[in-house]
Amino acid sequence: LRLEPLAAALAFAAICTLDARAQDEEKLTSGPGAGLTAQKCQICHELAHVTRSRLSRGEWTDTVRLMRERGAPLSDAEIEVILAYLAAYYARDPAPAPAPDTLAPAR
Ligand code: HEC
Repeated sequence: LRLEPLAAALAFAAICTLDARAQDEEKLTSGPGAGLTAQKCQICHELAHVTRSRLSRGEWTDTVRLMRERGAPLSDAEIEVILAYLAAYYARDPAPAPAPDTLAPAR
């Protein structure tokens, strides 16, 4: 098994994915709640504010509350749907895989 072609293919796929993301900042990833989120979150600004963000659920909660304070017309039930959607599809990257601790021990 030679890994170079595989690595090259993966790198190419990653670049294409990044490119597609950059071009599609105004479209939300399809998923439960995407329609409601798009409808509510582009009343005042571009959806790119959402698609560029990668936040934890707690951070999304703070952000959506702030948007409501800014005047976003959101019921509590709608906020629940939107938070579940954002926390699933626009979450922070997962933690890296466990690795050996290569840092020198403290003296
Ligand atoms: C009532 C108007 C309004 C609505 C509706 C609204 N926002 Fe915002 N949002 C703002 C304003 C004002 C800003 C700051 C100015 C700007 O960057 O456009 C902002 C900025 C943001 C930012 C950038 C960070 C920040 O705080 O400046 C994010 C992320 C964001 N909004 C997410 C959302 C999400 C998610 C929704 C849907 C739940 C939403 N917004 C709906 C008014 C709104």
